[in-house]
Amino acid sequence: MQAVLPPDALPGEEMRRQLLRRLEDEVRACQRCPLATTRTCAVPGEGNLNAVVMFVGEGPGFDEDRLGRPFVGRSGQFLTNTLAQLGIARSEVYITNVVKCRPPQNRDPLPAELDACSDYLTRQVALINPRIIVTLGRFSMRRWFPTGAITQIHGHVRNIGRGRIALAMFHPAAALRNPTWQAAFIQDMAKLPALIERAQRANAAAARGEALPAGAPHPGDEDYVA
Ligand code: URA
Ligand code: SF4
Repeated sequence: MQAVLPPDALPGEEMRRQLLRRLEDEVRACQRCPLATTRTCAVPGEGNLNAVVMFVGEGPGFDEDRLGRPFVGRSGQFLTNTLAQLGIARSEVYITNVVKCRPPQNRDPLPAELDACSDYLTRQVALINPRIIVTLGRFSMRRWFPTGAITQIHGHVRNIGRGRIALAMFHPAAALRNPTWQAAFIQDMAKLPALIERAQRANAAAARGEALPAGAPHPGDEDYVA
């Protein structure tokens, strides 16, 4: 499974790389919300600049806050292993969260914190330009799925514009707590390889200047704004 674009498939690779580095540095120094005072390390996100898939979780937990890297604790290992089972290497995707600093005691992020942090994710999506956004848990789901409970809409795919789709999934930590959700998590993730292949076909056709394959979202579509 090839989950990454070939080098130089998108224009301005070096510029995008620099802008992403700058954004990550900005996050590490950010003081925009009170979570800055309780964090150890901010966690901007990590992964491939040319990723076709971006995973968006909730916020750093204990291990992530210590290490400054996303999804490196128990739920991160579960996520990474589930991907590996499908032949998708963690190094080929990009992984981040809706809030970049750990909420104390892993409480839910507050609306003001989500608001304060939102612009970083908007910029990450624009720079990486993923075809597929996988939302992990209800806070990141809400950004692209305006209605519906996660128990109802996990596994659903939605066209969010600019040639992008969003796939809603349970949070891996929730999956680890509940066997039914764990089975759903694995089943929903199994949709990814076919979605990645479709995205790669659309990318290849667009690179050749051809019409997009039937059913592929058009890169010129407006971004969906919740
Ligand atoms: N849970 C999240 O939502 N994000 C992480 O990075 C780790 C755990
Ligand atoms: Fe800044 Fe986001 Fe961290 Fe708040 S959570 S301090 S907005 S990076």
